[in-house]
Amino acid sequence: MGGTTEHAGNFVPVDERLVSFFVSLKQEKGRNHMSKIVQQDILQQLEQLQRDAQTALAQANTTEATREWYSEYLSRKGRLTSILRNLGSLSAEERPLVGKVANEVKAVLENALQERQAAIGQAELEAVRRAESVDVTLPGRPQKLGKLHITTRALRDIYAIFTAMGFQIYDSPEVETDEYNFQLLNMPPGHPARDMWDTFYTTMPGLILRTHTSPGQIHAMREYAPEPIRVILPGKCYRYEAVDASHESMFYQVEGLAIGKHITFSDLKGVLINFANQMYGEGRKTRFRKSYFPFTEPSVEMDIECVLCGGKGCPVCKYSGWLEMLGAGMVHPRVLQNGGYDPTEFSGFAFGMGPDRIALQKYGIDDIRYFFTNDARLFERV
Ligand code: PHE
Repeated sequence: MGGTTEHAGNFVPVDERLVSFFVSLKQEKGRNHMSKIVQQDILQQLEQLQRDAQTALAQANTTEATREWYSEYLSRKGRLTSILRNLGSLSAEERPLVGKVANEVKAVLENALQERQAAIGQAELEAVRRAESVDVTLPGRPQKLGKLHITTRALRDIYAIFTAMGFQIYDSPEVETDEYNFQLLNMPPGHPARDMWDTFYTTMPGLILRTHTSPGQIHAMREYAPEPIRVILPGKCYRYEAVDASHESMFYQVEGLAIGKHITFSDLKGVLINFANQMYGEGRKTRFRKSYFPFTEPSVEMDIECVLCGGKGCPVCKYSGWLEMLGAGMVHPRVLQNGGYDPTEFSGFAFGMGPDRIALQKYGIDDIRYFFTNDARLFERV
């Protein structure tokens, strides 16, 4: 016996001995007739049982179903046992053959069950594996990378441009004295120009948060005089502002200072135009307007053609076509003196720009308050 149990209706051929037995039954017709009929019945039942069981097994698709199949066909309460109960009605010579066939049927079915269960187990395992599998060939999800704050990027651009022109970076304190922030910059107490800087005063008289990076000019000059100087002074400044879309109470500035023996206004212009070309792209128009700062004389403000509309006029440049870039001028003789330089021998220029403002303009951001709200979407568009 043998064959496949995989598909319903694909029967295992019945044992040839069974067939020859039926043939011999016919030949022996007449002798011991009643008993032969019973034997024949039982053998037919066994044959039928085997067919049924094999068909049913082929349709059992789960381990659970094979258990039910076992209890229906092979268990002590199953169909095979109930057929064998009739063994008692056979004569002693007839029993061995039926017993033998019954055992063979049982063995065949048990084998088939084992095979079926193994196949089902394998299939179930495969299904679990497929459900839980990880496709290692799929492309990975990209890691979200952080980005530098756009002010930091503007600062780094500024450092790169000025250091290439021979400027060094000079650090100066954020907590200043009234003397450095104002007096040494040619603004004695009561000077009306102080109104240009809304100051945070502390409970210690004379101690303030710097309103601009210009006091750093005095620190640098006092450290280097009488040597020539070429420095930029970046850092945070503080003003008592009513915060709005273009004013924060904390912001950055980058101060520039050059002191030497023959420094002229054209040096200032040359350096600043070169900076504008590198920061905003070659050929962008700039203009200088007369202005006033107590610590420079003459004083100017520098504008750049609006980077967003190219000078045509848009909301960012308030339809003027120009963006204010920085304040600058020739260092006032009194400031040179306060720094330790003889103004008859030395001259210099200074400028101060706001990198936050530059970043706003460069990236077309309409509100400076986004800089501190920690919403990463701000940086997705730059
Ligand atoms: N300190 C000035 C300001 O805060 C800018 C400035 C710096 C102007 C240096 C002239 C020279 O507005």
